[in-house]
Amino acid sequence: MEKKNIDWANLGFGYCKTDKRFVANYKDGAWDEGVLTEDDKVVISECAGVLQYAQTCFEGLKAYTTEDGRIVTFRPDLNASRMADSCRKLEMPVFPEDKFVEAVKETIKANVAYVPPYGSGATLYVRPYMFGSSPVIGVKPAQEYQFRIFTTPVGPYFKGGVKSLTIRISDMDRAAPHGTGHIKAGLNYAMSLSNIVEAHNLGFDENMYLDSATRTYVEETGGANFLFVTKDGKVVTPDSETILPSITRRSLMIVAKEYLGLEVEQRKVTKDELKDFAECGLCGTAAVISPVGKVVDHGTEIIFKDSEKEMGPITKKLYDTLTGIQMGRIEAPQGWIQEIL
Ligand SMILES: Cc1ncc(COP(=O)(O)O)c(C=O)c1O
Repeated sequence: MEKKNIDWANLGFGYCKTDKRFVANYKDGAWDEGVLTEDDKVVISECAGVLQYAQTCFEGLKAYTTEDGRIVTFRPDLNASRMADSCRKLEMPVFPEDKFVEAVKETIKANVAYVPPYGSGATLYVRPYMFGSSPVIGVKPAQEYQFRIFTTPVGPYFKGGVKSLTIRISDMDRAAPHGTGHIKAGLNYAMSLSNIVEAHNLGFDENMYLDSATRTYVEETGGANFLFVTKDGKVVTPDSETILPSITRRSLMIVAKEYLGLEVEQRKVTKDELKDFAECGLCGTAAVISPVGKVVDHGTEIIFKDSEKEMGPITKKLYDTLTGIQMGRIEAPQGWIQEIL
């Protein structure tokens, strides 16, 4: 299949319409088979559940070309199960997990001309999402739903080179105890917009959220989990019921232990111990890991010496190993790389 004429290396992270998308509808208690369509428009009732009470959730993953020219995607089964968790929490019907993976692969295959070539640094971002489509006026779940998957090519994350981020400790909370912090509900992102706009206006790249019950423990940012490295080379990630279980972070912890032989810990991390870490990074599908140089706590700077300007040495090893696995240069654990073509 001939590739589209796109300047892959200079693509940003924005929406670019591709040829096909997957659409399935839930009606009378059952999902239909779903189809691939060229129609990128969604037509729903003005009173749809998603429009009135934000009944929607989503996922994000990538497809890319490996060194030996295969088109693959990374652990889509984990996106399927995380979306199933989101749906259960939001009283939405689960799209069967095996069908989710199949539909993701079908949608990528239908848009293979948009999968960037190996070495370009660009990828095809895949966005599965679901919303309540039937009218709802009293506060209750919708009766009908639509599950869709679109794709959009996105450019290399570290375009101008890797530069460490500066983040601030947020005064606003992201997730309540026993709330929706652990699922990928649209509402979690809507409520964070004013805070990220404010952070950017003040010159920060991101917000570090603390646990809202005690404001003692480190949680995550609005779109990525934290990973820290201690001065003696241990990899630490916060344990919390109210953060999104990042697929990248879970994979990196396995890479740290199994591939790099590092000691790993998933545990509560207090704000007060931030100063003791040598490296800090943010993990997520978009960048795999972005280095964090400093955290600013109301004027007090906490500097991570080994990742102050660029990725720290251990973060870099983690990054190189996971991206090596994703690109087919390093053997992957069973099931991590799912081939499409
Ligand atoms: C709140 C939040 N945390 C963490 C992540 C990273 O998760 P993943 O590695 O699965 O992309 C994301 C992005 O999906 C996110 O939105």
